[in-house]
Amino acid sequence: MDETGLREALKGLPIPDLRYLPVTGSTNDDAMAWLAEGAPDGALVIADQQTRGRGRLNRSWHTPPGAALAFSLILRPTEEEASHLAQFTALPSLALVDVLGGHYGLPVEIKWPNDVLLRRKKAAGVLNEVSWNEDRLNGLVQGVGINLAPDSVPAGGEQLYPPTCVEAELGRPVDRVDFLARVLAALFAWRVHLGQPRLLEAWNRHLAFCGQVVAVRSPGRPAERGTVLGVEPSGQLRLALENGGEHLVAAGDVTLRPIENSQVGES
Ligand code: BTN
Repeated sequence: MDETGLREALKGLPIPDLRYLPVTGSTNDDAMAWLAEGAPDGALVIADQQTRGRGRLNRSWHTPPGAALAFSLILRPTEEEASHLAQFTALPSLALVDVLGGHYGLPVEIKWPNDVLLRRKKAAGVLNEVSWNEDRLNGLVQGVGINLAPDSVPAGGEQLYPPTCVEAELGRPVDRVDFLARVLAALFAWRVHLGQPRLLEAWNRHLAFCGQVVAVRSPGRPAERGTVLGVEPSGQLRLALENGGEHLVAAGDVTLRPIENSQVGES
């Protein structure tokens, strides 16, 4: 990735500081450290390659050189924004819906809470990490990994949910820097709608498995089965249970998989 071109492409965005790393362990680790050192709101860490990229649930995330987008955005929510903290998790996914669906015309869905699916295969994931000082919110890091070129698709076994990449679904190459600039512009545009019905409507409109029976697993608890009804303003997933009741599932260390499609693994 050409750093000068990168800086040029992101010039118009509210990114006061940017660290580009040709190779790093994990941009989320870098961003969390930078946040602790006082990084400003909107500071961005981006790497061409990660050697210890991290996904949700302590999984590894594959970022070989030249093929993917791996970045971590540091946000310092205002008090008003912090009252909608759970909705931050949707910002990168909604931004990707705009770019993949709106710009590239691909059929894109959000697998709750924030995986991005193209034709029911995973093309991108988000790892949100929040930093607290006692009970005061310091800030958060939104780590986003996007499989663009075929090399970015992990070989079997690394991810349980079937992976794909944007170029395979699109049938042509995409410009990484242009793609990144579009995603970040869309993310900042969605940020303005935190707490507003418009954000929740979009999250629900693009929610995968809506009306379908899924199994949701949280650590140390039996799997819960229910029909997906939608996402709540709290970011929780509302399920209709088989006994006629309803249940709200909090994001976190949760896996979700559709029941009907038994060959699809968890993620
Ligand atoms: C997931 O789907 O499990 C989330 C994957 C998040 C990967 C990104 S790549 C950039 C940032 N740095 C990391 O180590 N992880 C996130």
